[in-house]
Amino acid sequence: MRDMADEGLLRFTAEYAAQYLSSLEERPVAAPATIEELRKALAGPLPEEPTGPEQVIAELIAAAEPGVVATGSGRYFGFVIGGAMPVSLAADWLTSTWDQNAGLVAGGPSAAVVEEVCLEWLIELLGLPEGVSAGFVTGCQMAHVTALAAARHHVLAAVGWDLARGGLQGAPRIRVLVGAERHITVDRAFRFLGFGSDQIEAVAADEQGRMSPDALREALASADRPTIVCAQAGDVNTGSFDPLDAIADAVEEKGAWLHVDGAFGLWAAASPRFRHLVNGSSRADSWATDAHKWLNVPYDSGIAFCRHPDSHRAAMSVRASYLEQADPDAAREQLDWNPEFSRRARGFPIYAAIRSLGRQGIAALVERCCERARLLAELLGAAEGVEVLNDVVLNQVLVRFGDDDGATQEVVRRVQDDGTCWLSGTVWQGRAAMRISVSNWQTSEEDVERSVVAILDAAAAAVAGASVRA
Ligand SMILES: Cc1ncc(COP(=O)(O)O)c(C=O)c1O
Repeated sequence: MRDMADEGLLRFTAEYAAQYLSSLEERPVAAPATIEELRKALAGPLPEEPTGPEQVIAELIAAAEPGVVATGSGRYFGFVIGGAMPVSLAADWLTSTWDQNAGLVAGGPSAAVVEEVCLEWLIELLGLPEGVSAGFVTGCQMAHVTALAAARHHVLAAVGWDLARGGLQGAPRIRVLVGAERHITVDRAFRFLGFGSDQIEAVAADEQGRMSPDALREALASADRPTIVCAQAGDVNTGSFDPLDAIADAVEEKGAWLHVDGAFGLWAAASPRFRHLVNGSSRADSWATDAHKWLNVPYDSGIAFCRHPDSHRAAMSVRASYLEQADPDAAREQLDWNPEFSRRARGFPIYAAIRSLGRQGIAALVERCCERARLLAELLGAAEGVEVLNDVVLNQVLVRFGDDDGATQEVVRRVQDDGTCWLSGTVWQGRAAMRISVSNWQTSEEDVERSVVAILDAAAAAVAGASVRA
């Protein structure tokens, strides 16, 4: 039986959550505490005796909050980390409250039906072919694992090899072709699936990171084996898109499998203004994307889609006599499509985000982020000694200071320390750069302006005012 104390604890925590979120506007974006300070505050011997739940939560907040990065802030531009809209956070609370096991319909029919509904909505939003199957996973990397497991099964079945029975050892060799600037999770997914780095062939990419269709065609000319090609919609550094139509032409001629990494870039399809960037994407065999990036649902939430449901299911499905598994024609059993067995009901926050924003709101979210990215690029690029390295086609901006690696790294470090905004560094085709990703529903023009001032102040200090001036 739950008592009043339990209810009080949940109310206290919800109250704290609301206060934390409303403090985002002003709190420093970087976490103020050092790792040492956090260890001191959080570590201790394994507790022998119980501690009251209220005390545990109050002390956890006090000890951990100084080590929390304000990723929900409109001035958080790190990696490609979306914020969480209140509606999707609320649905996430319901997810934990209901605590359904979303592996099976029997573990929670609403969780299963919500995923079915989300799948249909996502097909429309992301411009995917009707009838694709989907797995709701932790993130884009596991979406790659899921989709590429389906690909591996499919291309081997096409040459008469039953992967589920025969495994990889002794199987016909599969050729894997990826763009030179693919995201590292593609390699990692292949590693999990039994492919080493020696078996991954990189196809040349241009200065924006776009795979060359001519180089791909050339590489495919000698393809005499089952082949998987991975293209990308949205480079993690530049935001650029591979020319997917031309890539699909080359892949189709060879009967290879085309996978698209669209972790955030696939969401361009939701905007009439940016949809052209994903032209050709609908011709792929599989896609991987995230909801925790541009849809702004809380971590963790990625989605794998597959044009070949039979291969997808064959790669994932399991049966056991104790599981009450529904007739596949009657209901979508989630563990037929996911690598996990038991798992969180990730559909609820996605459902809430899509319902709350609607098609128009999602287009506006994408477009707003892209506009803010362009404004950042314009304001920074206008300063002396500051160079924007990429064509800002989407929500990613690469900036270099004083045309110098050390100065650029120093600016990034100073901005992180300052706390007005947060962003990280990278190396783009041999040159250090600051990378800025605008993926948060809240980022306003004012956030951009405040951040630009902080960045240019850091730049002026880092290069002693010599070559960088607003
Ligand atoms: C293009 C691309 N692919 C894959 C990933 C990995 O996504 P996740 O961290 O959700 O696994 C990212 C992350 O930023 C990405 O930008």
